Order: sequence, then structure tokens, then C-alpha cells
Amino acid sequence: MSSRPSPGDSAFLEETTDQPLDATRHGDVTREIGAFLHSRIVGQDAAVDAVLELYQIFLVGMSPPDRPVGNLLFLGPTGSGKTYVIEVLAEALFGNPHAFIKVDCAEFQEHHEIAKLIGSPPGYIGHMQTQPILTQQALTRWHTEKLKLTLLLFDEVEKASESLWQLMLGILDKASLTLGDNTHVDLSQCIIFMTSNLGAPEMSRLAEGGLGFAAQAPIEDVNLDEKIARTAMEAARRKFSPEFMNRLDKVVVFKTLRPDQLEHILELELAKVQRRIAGAVGENHFTFRCTPEIKQCMSSGQL
Ligand SMILES: Nc1ncnc2c1ncn2[C@@H]1O[C@H](COP(=O)(O)OP(=O)(O)OP(=O)(O)O)[C@@H](O)[C@H]1O
Ligand SMILES: [Mg+2]
Repeated sequence: MSSRPSPGDSAFLEETTDQPLDATRHGDVTREIGAFLHSRIVGQDAAVDAVLELYQIFLVGMSPPDRPVGNLLFLGPTGSGKTYVIEVLAEALFGNPHAFIKVDCAEFQEHHEIAKLIGSPPGYIGHMQTQPILTQQALTRWHTEKLKLTLLLFDEVEKASESLWQLMLGILDKASLTLGDNTHVDLSQCIIFMTSNLGAPEMSRLAEGGLGFAAQAPIEDVNLDEKIARTAMEAARRKFSPEFMNRLDKVVVFKTLRPDQLEHILELELAKVQRRIAGAVGENHFTFRCTPEIKQCMSSGQL
């Protein structure tokens, strides 16, 4: 009889993930990360929860083998915090808001521009000069002894060219990528984020506000969030193939921010300015204050 462990017993999970199964382990770590994220990110709890869920699954070693740790699509109006969530997560995990790889899909519209991502095949002009963005080394740049996780963002994903789509489908499905020089890149330690403004104009019309930062109070409608989410999902389904949609673990629709939430964000931003000033000239030299009128002007976009 084979001594190989079978699915269902914890030894199987230990063998396939190299991490013992313990759903409670690191619970405190995730809670700490969650508190940090919630303290910085205003009004986008669904996005924070989606990220925390994936992180916890990763920490307990339950991420699917041969797939990325998670594939998340963030939809929503401009300025609603889609990129910011990833920056704050990078800061929470690695102490640096820039500790992630960002691929601006709009920059890779032409077939030949893909070489910037994966390098060109040997023999092609520029083979040695191009340093591809998606090498194994680049993916592990921010890894620490304790945390071997990479945050990879494909921004404005609806602008990706056909070649970039093919590349992304392979990543989302198999966590694998072949570079121009035929070397293999493993992306199974990555959380893949994709962002898009698809459906944003319709969403803003529904919320009766501006883009992202709503200019007026949204209309009273208990089903408004649901309607907005449905509108965004419909726009995504019209644009993206079922092949792509099926590879996503979760689609998060960011909410249009209300005036009170904008004021809260403004407070957080002003506190950052104050901290920077204190860092530069010392705690007691300069205190930064803003009158309520100025705050009102700033959060309503008049300044
Ligand atoms: N929900 C939020 N909580 C706190 N700050 C926010 C939030 N949304 C936006 N901000 C602030 O506004 C800035 C711009 O937001 P961000 O770049 O994340 O927008 P976005 O949704 O990615 O927009 P775009 O679709 O144009 O890329 C952030 O750097 C942050 O300072
Ligand atoms: Mg963005």
C-alpha cells in the first residue's frame, strides 16, 4: 500500500504546500494588518476584506498550488482608492507603499512592447539591453525571511493588447510565464490585482456625483450600492471574456465616496502632511491647521 498522504489529511497539505495546516495560526497577524488597512482606507471595506481573506489563506498554507495566491479585479470610479488599497497593503506587509510591481496595461498596447515585460528572444535586437519587468528576481525583490509574497498589479486592465491578455490569462490560470529567453517564471507566490474604470460613468450617474469623489450627497436609495455594483459587473462582462472572468477569485466594486468620507480622507492626508513637517523641522516648531471652511473647499474639489 502507498504511504503517500491523501487529500483530506493534514499531512497531504503539509506535503503540497510545505506549510502545516492550522486555520488559527497567524490570525493575530492578519488582524493587525486589517487594523492598519482599515485605519487608512475609507469606505472600501469589501476591498479590505477581500485582501485580508486571501492573506489569511496564504498564511495558513491553503493557497491553491500552481495558481496565484489570488486573482482580484478592482472596478470603480477614478480616485476611489483602487491603487491605494495595494499601496497601503504593501506598506503594511513590507513597510514600503511602493513594494509592489505595477504594470500599466496602457503602455503595452503594441505587440513589440511586450518585450519590456518579458524580454525579447535571443538574437533579437535589444535582447541583452532589455531588462524585463517580470523576472523571477523582480518578483522576489521585496520578499523577506518571513514573508515570501509578491503583490503584482495590472493597472487599467481593459487597455491591455491581445498579446498582453494571452500572457495574463496564463498567469491567472497557471501562475506561470515564459520569458523571451525561454526561462520560466513562477507566480504562485503572487497576489494578482487588476484595476479598471469600466462602468465608472454609469456608476457615477447612478450615484449622482462626480467621478470617484462624489460632488453631491448620493440620492437616498437603499439599493444604490447593489445597483452600482451590478452596473460595474455588467460593464466588465461586456468587455472581458468569460475565460478571464472565470479566472478571478473575486471582483470588488469600489464605492463612490460620500462627502463625509472625503472629509475623513482629507483629515488623514492632513495628518500625513503634519507628520512630514514634524519629521523635517521637529515636533514643536510648526503646527499645521486648517479651518473647517478650507477643509470644506478642499474636499468638495473647489481648491
Ligand atoms: N478610499 C480611500 N481611502 C483613503 N484615501 C483614499 C481613498 N480613495 C482615494 N484616496 C486617496 O486618493 C488618492 C488617489 O486614489 P487612487 O490612486 O487609489 O485612485 P484609483 O481608484 O486607483 O483611481 P484611478 O482609477 O484613476 O487609478 C490616494 O492616493 C489616496 O490618497
Ligand atoms: Mg489607480
